[in-house]
Amino acid sequence: MKITKAVFPVAGLGTRFLPATKAQPKEMLPLVDKPIIQYAVEEAVEAGLDLMVLVTGKGKQSIENHFDTSFELEEALEKKGKTQVLEEIRKISSLGKFVYVRQQQPPLGLGHAVLMAKEIVGNEYFAVFLPDDVMDCPVACMKQMVEVHQKTSAAIIAAEKTDALGQERYGILKVEPTDNPRLHRIVDIVEKPGAQNAPSDLAVMGRYILPPEIFEKIEQTGEGAIGEIQLTDAIKSLLGEKEFFAYEYEGERHDAGEVSGYLKATIKLGLKRSDISEDLKKFIDEIAS
Ligand code: UTP
Repeated sequence: MKITKAVFPVAGLGTRFLPATKAQPKEMLPLVDKPIIQYAVEEAVEAGLDLMVLVTGKGKQSIENHFDTSFELEEALEKKGKTQVLEEIRKISSLGKFVYVRQQQPPLGLGHAVLMAKEIVGNEYFAVFLPDDVMDCPVACMKQMVEVHQKTSAAIIAAEKTDALGQERYGILKVEPTDNPRLHRIVDIVEKPGAQNAPSDLAVMGRYILPPEIFEKIEQTGEGAIGEIQLTDAIKSLLGEKEFFAYEYEGERHDAGEVSGYLKATIKLGLKRSDISEDLKKFIDEIAS
């Protein structure tokens, strides 16, 4: 069955970005001139998904406003004859159908946030996007994953080779090879094991295609690491029942969820923009020398 629903958990507190995130969502911080969340929604559109389910929370109203029509702004831009930017602004509210569900305070973790989408998703496979992971890929990361799902009819988790630091930061996968060197059958998943206990160097990145059975598993999952309901724990308990593959996507990921990754992503994406790249390059050369 075709995947149509995209779930974006955006209810987190963004503590690594305080004080910037005291009164504004981390997901609305701009990378160059576009909020982080818009990159993820555009990726979903490229993957052919059309129902965007955003799991929001306290103080996240600007995300809803961003994807809503802004008549006053459009009128003002029209009057000023700023047709190009008007086009861009109009495009945002027509990226898909948007549905909002709210995770109540305090946010109880990623697993709990995904559970909030249960009724909307229903009984079908769905995609999950953690917008902090900004994917810069020749073919949209989720599009690559949807293609793999269509071939395997299984759950797919985006994966990337990592180092000792990554083994401390991310979920790490124990895998078996398949015929496709980018595709691995998942045998186990461990949240932030550290280099000593990591079963491999393959880390979970923020894109998933999950079966609806995950919701029941999340409901049965108690609080895990740091008192939160972890998605990893629910996936782990579903592994024996459903087939899961790790897919090493083609492309590059930027971790915009922490300050240095965010700055690097800003520079990398800025350098790709023809209107500012030359100036930016000159500046980087200047400060580097
Ligand atoms: P993160 O752990 O990166 O986000 O979760 P966070 O908790 O906001 O950030 P820090 O660690 O405090 O700095 C990945 C995604 O999951 C969402 C976040 O909004 C982010 O987009 N999330 C996380 C929720 O929606 N609810 C939660 O309970 C936790």
